[in-house]
Amino acid sequence: MCVFGAQWGDEGKGKIIDSLAHDADVIVRYQGGSNAGHTVIVGEDKYVLHLIPSGILHKDKVNVIGSGVAIDPLTLLEEIAGLRERGVSVSHENLRIAANAHVIFTHHKRIDGLAERWRGSGRIGTTGRGIGPCYADKAARTGLRICDLLDPDRCRERLMAALAEKNALIENVHGEEPLSLDKELDCYGAVGDSLRPFVGDTGAEVRDAYAAGKHILFEGAQGLMLDLDHGTYPFVTSSSTGVGGVSSGAGFSPRHIERVIGIGKAYCTRVGEGPFPTELTDETGARIQKAGHEFGATTGRPRRAGWFDAVAVRYAFDLCGADGWVVTKLDILSGFETLRVGVAYEIDGETFERYPAHLPSLDGVQVTYEEFPGWQQDIAEVRSWEDLPENARNFVESLEKLVSCPVDLVSVGPDREAMLTRPR
Ligand code: GDP
Ligand code: IMO
Ligand code: MG
Repeated sequence: MCVFGAQWGDEGKGKIIDSLAHDADVIVRYQGGSNAGHTVIVGEDKYVLHLIPSGILHKDKVNVIGSGVAIDPLTLLEEIAGLRERGVSVSHENLRIAANAHVIFTHHKRIDGLAERWRGSGRIGTTGRGIGPCYADKAARTGLRICDLLDPDRCRERLMAALAEKNALIENVHGEEPLSLDKELDCYGAVGDSLRPFVGDTGAEVRDAYAAGKHILFEGAQGLMLDLDHGTYPFVTSSSTGVGGVSSGAGFSPRHIERVIGIGKAYCTRVGEGPFPTELTDETGARIQKAGHEFGATTGRPRRAGWFDAVAVRYAFDLCGADGWVVTKLDILSGFETLRVGVAYEIDGETFERYPAHLPSLDGVQVTYEEFPGWQQDIAEVRSWEDLPENARNFVESLEKLVSCPVDLVSVGPDREAMLTRPR
């Protein structure tokens, strides 16, 4: 099964994957890096996972960081240490790392920041985690992989070549201090040994597990509207965030992905720059942002908030062939007199019910909304579909129709238990 975000990230994937991990044997991250922040709440404890899959809090599950993930080894080791400090067992038995995944170094993070400064008002608003520069080097075939970190001579040779190029850029284009090869080798030289026990041919491991009848859960990061090919380019991340990323990023045949589940909040948020047609810049947006605690799990930046965008979510489900979806944060919409949902875009006098992926930008977009009556009751404690207020049920049913995809589960709070099944 593949679970992916259907909006601009932060849909609540961490919570849902943790929950679905009960019935899985292997949980696999296939793209992105530590730009992701996946929150899992267990009782009083809150965990924000950046690189480690959201199945790690379950005993006896294998968690895999696939080859499509851009790995910052320093963040990863910190994350492992942080989990262990909190009593979560992390060993080579429950965490596997792809030998062929690319490594994020200091220069990637430096260049991420410098490129943003260079872009000026055209900045993307990246997380600054070095994601774009690392994937760019991967495509340019100059990157280093985890397997290179395990071989000190090879690591030195390839890092020297990389730094020669990157320092020229840092010094000559950006006018900043170059990085020292010795310092970088000091910093990254030892991490190979720390990671060594976890590293393997994870593609083969996942395929073998599948062949042995194990249940594999692929965990998407970011959201479809941030997809490098299909999102709001250039305001996107640098990986394939949808189900399309699974095959290359985990080394797994697309023919074997049996179920695809999208995650969408009952409203929308976006962090960073870029088009957001249903954005609310008024007090309603501020109310949603406050009620939903919409602050980035990775950077702490406030998330922009707006109404549910059925055009974008329908597009995401269509592209990924979603079999069903999970509506999250429905509880946040309690107390509104009227709720709105974006159902069509108008751009330069033309109406689009289907997301206009062929246009260079969404500049000047006007959104057509449908309105729905809200509900006043707090629904955070509701645990069955029948106990939801009628208007909340009607709202979910309307969303299903608008995006042409059935809802499987409704999430009404951050805890594991705050979830209900949508009966068929
Ligand atoms: P992810 O990146 O998709 O995993 O999402 P984040 O963890 O970045 O952001 C989702 C936030 O919403 C987290 O703080 C979750 O604990 C919280 N959350 C998830 N589902 C629900 C829900 O149904 N209701 C409420 N109130 N909070 C939720
Ligand atoms: P999760 O997995 C929300 C956004 C950044 C920026 C753009 C590019 O928690 O949903 P990048 O650092 O990837 O080059 O930034 O993508 N972004 C996210 N927004 N949730 C995320 O991850 C994100 N990861 C990246 O804010 O706009
Ligand atoms: Mg997040």
